[in-house]
Amino acid sequence: MHETINSPLNYGGLHLKNRIIFAPTTMGLTQEAFVERMRRIAAGGCAMIIIGDVPVLPRGFGPSLYSKKGMAFYRAVADAVHREGCLLCAQLHQSDSDLKAMLKYVPGVLTKRISMEELRPLLNQQVGPYITGLPEKKVAQITDAFGRAAQLAVEVGFDMVQVHGDRMCGSFSSALFNHRTDRYGGSPANRARFAVEAVSAIRRRLPQLPIDYKLAVRQEEPHYGNAGVLESELPIFVLLLEEAGVTSFHVTLANHGDLCDTIPPKNHPQFGTEGCFLTFCDQVRQLTNLPICGVGGLTDPAFVEEQLKAHRMDCAAMSRQLIADPDWPNKVFSSRVEEIHRCVRCNKECLGGMMAHRGVHCIYEDR
Ligand SMILES: Cc1cc2nc3c(=O)[nH]c(=O)nc-3n(C[C@H](O)[C@H](O)[C@H](O)COP(=O)(O)O)c2cc1C
Ligand code: SF4
Repeated sequence: MHETINSPLNYGGLHLKNRIIFAPTTMGLTQEAFVERMRRIAAGGCAMIIIGDVPVLPRGFGPSLYSKKGMAFYRAVADAVHREGCLLCAQLHQSDSDLKAMLKYVPGVLTKRISMEELRPLLNQQVGPYITGLPEKKVAQITDAFGRAAQLAVEVGFDMVQVHGDRMCGSFSSALFNHRTDRYGGSPANRARFAVEAVSAIRRRLPQLPIDYKLAVRQEEPHYGNAGVLESELPIFVLLLEEAGVTSFHVTLANHGDLCDTIPPKNHPQFGTEGCFLTFCDQVRQLTNLPICGVGGLTDPAFVEEQLKAHRMDCAAMSRQLIADPDWPNKVFSSRVEEIHRCVRCNKECLGGMMAHRGVHCIYEDR
């Protein structure tokens, strides 16, 4: 009944045992708790886990691939996940927040004059000037760091990397943030250059490594997402990224609007339905023969099976559904669908937990 979900896939050269991937998810947990959570999700039967927001530079938020401590942490994650028969992918990212500009808001946040909800739009306002003013020399250092970070990721046991097409790649891609007049700004091909150079830096160092690209799409009618690639510019970006060495696309809505647009609750006016971003997959499907991973509100086994069969996506990434029930894959494979704790897309304890610095949890958890 769910034979496509449970069928293997050649994902850019990597053998996935089935079609379910844990989408990149920042957890806000202690390292020990994080390793155990990844192990638990792997034990539930998914084929691969993508670790969200692995920094490409030595100084960034989150554990560093460049320090002994950070390497030991990622190695522990890789060992735990591999022992459960699951593969591991590193989402390589560079933040587009201007650290210097952020500092001026620290006193306001500490004295609670500025709430976290108010801080986000303030930081977003800094992105355009930061991206537009970043010196070319610094741009070259960052894009090259994607290659170095990928090498280190492989050394500690990652099987694949995903280039985070949002954050700095996404803001370079978007004419809403990128007002540069050099070869990184202006035309769509110029705005794609940052991402293309990041991918090329990985491909140069690791000719065989599968490279996934998180393709963040900006919708205009109605307008959703500010960073990322305009729907009408997808043909240029997809072609250039594929030529640079991307081997699969993970397709979703672009960021830098409301977080609830990219992690939509059930009552979202535009994206509240099952498989809410699949229309973007349909567009990318017209442009490439590379495998495509769908994400966004995928919870219903029958629906996921149907979309895979219809070739709208080659695999399904889930964040909240595997937080709600890591055993979703195994329950589907052993015909225990009625036992699944279905994610109801309330965002209460996952996104809510992250925003309140409690760590990512779920309403189904006994804590
Ligand atoms: C708590 C939380 C943290 C997330 N962290 C990341 C992240 O670090 N990187 C990323 O690209 N996406 C992140 N996402 C977005 C997910 O990968 C996914 O695209 C989104 O939640 C929609 O999928 P879903 O409906 O299966 O949850 C996060 C989502 C949640 C709920
Ligand atoms: S808290 Fe709600 S939205 Fe989040 S994973 Fe659990 S059921 Fe899904």
